[in-house]
Amino acid sequence: MKKANKGQFWGRVCGNKSATGKGQCFYKITLEFEGQAAKAFAKAVPGQFAEIDLSKTSLPAAEKIPEGLKDACKRDIILRRPFSFCDITTKGNKTIVEILYCVVGPASLRMTTLKAGDTVNIIGPLGNGFSIPKDKKTALLVSGGMGSPPLQHLADYLVKNNPKINVLTFAGARTKEHFPFNPKRFTKQKIETIITTDDGSAGLKGFVSEHLERWIEKSGQKESEMIIYACGPEAMLARVAEIANSSNIECQISMERRMACGIGVCQGCAVECRLEGSSETVYKMCCTDGPVFDAKEVVF
Ligand SMILES: Cc1cc2nc3c(=O)[nH]c(=O)nc-3n(C[C@H](O)[C@H](O)[C@H](O)COP(=O)(O)OP(=O)(O)OC[C@H]3O[C@@H](n4cnc5c(N)ncnc54)[C@H](O)[C@@H]3O)c2cc1C
Ligand code: FES
Repeated sequence: MKKANKGQFWGRVCGNKSATGKGQCFYKITLEFEGQAAKAFAKAVPGQFAEIDLSKTSLPAAEKIPEGLKDACKRDIILRRPFSFCDITTKGNKTIVEILYCVVGPASLRMTTLKAGDTVNIIGPLGNGFSIPKDKKTALLVSGGMGSPPLQHLADYLVKNNPKINVLTFAGARTKEHFPFNPKRFTKQKIETIITTDDGSAGLKGFVSEHLERWIEKSGQKESEMIIYACGPEAMLARVAEIANSSNIECQISMERRMACGIGVCQGCAVECRLEGSSETVYKMCCTDGPVFDAKEVVF
């Protein structure tokens, strides 16, 4: 995959609404880019992300602020916030970027007030993104909760650009209320999806990693022909990495860190990694060396 040149750009908001339609904390914002920005984002690969400036974005009206954020929302937004892309399409000379987000604090709360016609300042595309080896027959995409956006993008990308790979998605969440989208329709492409919830309120009961492990055991496929891509809570990533490493399946995991700069300057997003052939570890930067890492290298 050819990487795009990053830059600081302005995007125009085309839409911003609840992603699940149930009044929960999940929203999808659609941004439109023109000129150099359109070229840069058209080349963004799944797993890359952008740093969005929400410092001047207003808060919602008091009655729309969730109880748990009434105090936190007063904090000034000094730093940009990182968000990955769940879809990128081109329309003539414009590039349309979709971001699926969850309201967890002051910046994501402010993001809900952006409306069609507003502009946002955004630095991107950043990070390395997923890579796609040519020799794989099956890609297993494993997401936990809010880890799904970059994997939705990857699933669509694989179907479009690597039609020989069989794509299977595992979408997990704590309960049916914790899916940021309708998991039955993981992508635009009607890809087979195994849905799991910890409490069994939707799909299969249990952790998504358990069901991945069972599926691999039953599949009878050669380990060397499979690849796992995962994004979600760190405990889930650790377990998926363990399953992949013990069964010798190549695995790429997308890590999350708080990211103050997103471009390798502040050194605040360290991920401890093993050095190949050595017992020593090094710290890599999640924003520039990642966010996608080989499951074998990350020390959990
Ligand atoms: C590469 C990358 C891609 C991301 N993609 C998405 C995405 O597509 N959609 C989405 O909703 N979110 C995504 N995030 C997380 C997003 O950046 C945070 O939710 C956002 O910064 C929260 O800002 P806030 O001011 O609303 O909340 P804050 O006040 O900054 O955080 C509220 C709480 O959320 C938790 N939190 C915040 N940021 C992170 C983080 N990076 N990792 C773990 N916990 C965190 C903390 O516990 C914190 O107390 C991504 C993060 C990274 C690093
Ligand atoms: S966020 Fe600053 S170095 Fe990674």
